[in-house]
Amino acid sequence: MSLITITGLTIAYGFRDSRLIAVNSVDLEIGEKEFLAVVGESGCGKSTLALSMIGLLPKSVATIVAGQIVYKGTDLVKLDNNELRRYRGTEIAMIFQEPLTSLNPVYRVGDQMAEAIAIREARTGGDEALAGSSSVMQEVHRSDEVRVSRVPRPKKRVSSELKKEAVDALKLVRIPDPEQVLERYPFELSGGMRQRVMIAMALSQRPKLLVADEPTTALDVTTQAQVLKLMKELMSEVNTSILLITHDLAVASQVADRVVVMYAAEVVEDADVFALFSEPLHPYTKGLLSCIPTGSKDDTKLLPIPGSVPDLVNPPVGCRYASRCPYVMDVCRTREPQLVEVKPKHKVACYLYGK
Ligand SMILES: Nc1ncnc2c1ncn2[C@@H]1O[C@H](COP(=O)(O)OP(=O)(O)O)[C@@H](O)[C@H]1O
Ligand SMILES: [Mg+2]
Repeated sequence: MSLITITGLTIAYGFRDSRLIAVNSVDLEIGEKEFLAVVGESGCGKSTLALSMIGLLPKSVATIVAGQIVYKGTDLVKLDNNELRRYRGTEIAMIFQEPLTSLNPVYRVGDQMAEAIAIREARTGGDEALAGSSSVMQEVHRSDEVRVSRVPRPKKRVSSELKKEAVDALKLVRIPDPEQVLERYPFELSGGMRQRVMIAMALSQRPKLLVADEPTTALDVTTQAQVLKLMKELMSEVNTSILLITHDLAVASQVADRVVVMYAAEVVEDADVFALFSEPLHPYTKGLLSCIPTGSKDDTKLLPIPGSVPDLVNPPVGCRYASRCPYVMDVCRTREPQLVEVKPKHKVACYLYGK
């Protein structure tokens, strides 16, 4: 069953002359307990899509021009900021690439975790007063990076119940010696540990959907694999779906049930992970796959896709991938292909397969 259904979502940045469509007519569905990965090169609109789902688009520059984000029967696009707070964190939580920008450097891990748990309890207990307070996961703004604009107001002393729950949350993410980690400041932890803490904090809100935007990109390969494995395991342990945003198809292949490939603000392919890897259809997906090292001798032939993502202020007419596509035909340069289901549960937007 579907947990969240996005239809025709179109998001613009800027105004008039410099208007840019970062997400264009995107349809996307995430099922309950599904691990979905959204993959594409940098600048394809993945983070914008993720932020819209949690109501954290920078309001001064971003506009949802069209579309719906229906979560459990409610269209999140229609909600105001106060109404969205009921969903953010508790229903849909988000973790970012570099936890140091999301964790407050001047407070111990334990205090920040206790605050996250206390906010959840206040909310689920119906106390709206705390819902407007300064949670780590509530308010972020974007400059080049996503950053926390408001800081948590941790309790002076962690009550024993909150502490026990914080310890349990850290145990859940396989942190050895959690009592000791609660006493540490974020900078005292390794990148992998910090990301585990962020995952623990997000999950302590018991969200139904965890959105993770490039959560392992800043980590070394071994730690990256460990964190991904952890996320996969946690999904079946706690009742949650995961939306993983990554520029790395190899990362998606390790954990996702289904993969949606985005190119230049649009979905170009949507398939279960096995189908996508055994039989990729879109030339862009094939291009991304040919960039993945396999560990064999053939790796010397690995080639990045020539060219770059087109300018989204003036996107090309027709298929947006045409200028980079080895299979390009005349029609590709005049009309944009539609995303169609060409095999059961396998959609692609390419004239090689139909409309
Ligand atoms: N705050 C912003 N203001 C203006 N343009 C933005 C902003 N954030 C992102 N963009 C633009 O939107 C497009 C999509 O960006 P983004 O969603 O970050 O893509 P991705 O996460 O796939 O790298 C890019 O062209 C980017 O330059
Ligand atoms: Mg991004």
